[in-house]
Amino acid sequence: MSTARDVLNGVDRERSIRFPVEKIRQDFPLLANAVHGKPLAYLDNAATSQKPLAVIEAEELFYRRDCSNIHRGVHELSERATRWYEDARTKVQQFLNARESREIIFVRGTTEAINLVASTFGRKQVGAGDEVLITAMEHHSNIVPWQILCEEKGARLRVAPINDRGEIVFEEYERLLSPRTRLAALVHVSNVLGTINPVREMVEAAHRRNVPVLLDGAQAAPHLKVDVQALDCEFYAFSGHKLYGPTGVGVLYGKAGLLDAMPPYQGGGDMIRSVTFEKTIYNTLPYKFEAGTPNIAGAIGLGAAVDYVNGIGLDNIAAYEGELLAYGTRVVGGISGVRIIGTAREKAGVISFVIEGIHPHDVGTVLDQEGIAVRTGHHCAQPLMERFKIPAATRASLAFYNTTREIDVLAAGIRKAKELLG
Ligand code: ALA
Repeated sequence: MSTARDVLNGVDRERSIRFPVEKIRQDFPLLANAVHGKPLAYLDNAATSQKPLAVIEAEELFYRRDCSNIHRGVHELSERATRWYEDARTKVQQFLNARESREIIFVRGTTEAINLVASTFGRKQVGAGDEVLITAMEHHSNIVPWQILCEEKGARLRVAPINDRGEIVFEEYERLLSPRTRLAALVHVSNVLGTINPVREMVEAAHRRNVPVLLDGAQAAPHLKVDVQALDCEFYAFSGHKLYGPTGVGVLYGKAGLLDAMPPYQGGGDMIRSVTFEKTIYNTLPYKFEAGTPNIAGAIGLGAAVDYVNGIGLDNIAAYEGELLAYGTRVVGGISGVRIIGTAREKAGVISFVIEGIHPHDVGTVLDQEGIAVRTGHHCAQPLMERFKIPAATRASLAFYNTTREIDVLAAGIRKAKELLG
């Protein structure tokens, strides 16, 4: 008689045939490495993901063949670099389905994108007594910039609560959208809980009260199809390095009308049209927000990452990762003493857990010795840890190159940690 596990394995074998995970893994050289003499099981993709050869080679080619500054030279190399950089912007525009490429601003990452909006739009729109609304599942990047702003302006940060599954309490969120709310800054997918928020409905509810919305898409863009026109959000932020691209590059999408009306973020070269000591005329979008030499190689690498992800298809990625998540939830959640934190009905590939009586850091150390890379700690979301009354958690976060074999290795590692530390 076949067990539930056999059935699941069968399902997974079928899926593996349809989703060519072993072939895909060959595109990621790092995955073939051993750690502490064990095959690497890389399950820390929410912190950063690994890079396919296409990304590594694009950056290398830029440095070997076309390295030059952009928008500044009439020489061949500068023109090539500029074309490549602007092509990357167009790829991101299409990836997010933005209306125009000037709505895509290259920044260092999600954190900088949110700080940009807080420092420009926020400084202009938020005054004393006003409110900025976030949720209880934000990570620090979508809390601290708003706290700084609120402190400076005498405004108030409001926090929409979540239930024990880690889902937004929608009525409370709606109730907190007050006439004083100047912006709702909401996470699309939680980095700890994996919750996929109903952001379309959240944006609609905010718009009914004329509240603009920023969506933090750091954990969403690598796993779900994002359409900023369908979402109708005012701003959308994501990081390149979580989308299989380089570190140090990310994207702020903003509706052109809003970006146009916002003051610049940083002053410097390329963000100006003309400068005299008396007055500076700022450049048009998107350059107004890209002061100084940007991360040219990073943007080019991100363009290659977008091509790579499109080549697999986000629908295929979401389906495969959904199966991995279901498998992982059963296998890890089935170990006695393990409690999964975050059991939302709509969830992306994140499995955070605590083990009764064992500190997550100790779990992480045992797993590391088995070649398993997970994140332990507060995951840059300390208020969320408080909400679940835990000091820390261990988090396995999945990507489309992970396999059920790696999840089995994780489960064996957890059992070992229990034996050694329990
Ligand atoms: N926010 C990233 C994470 O969740 C760094 O690990």
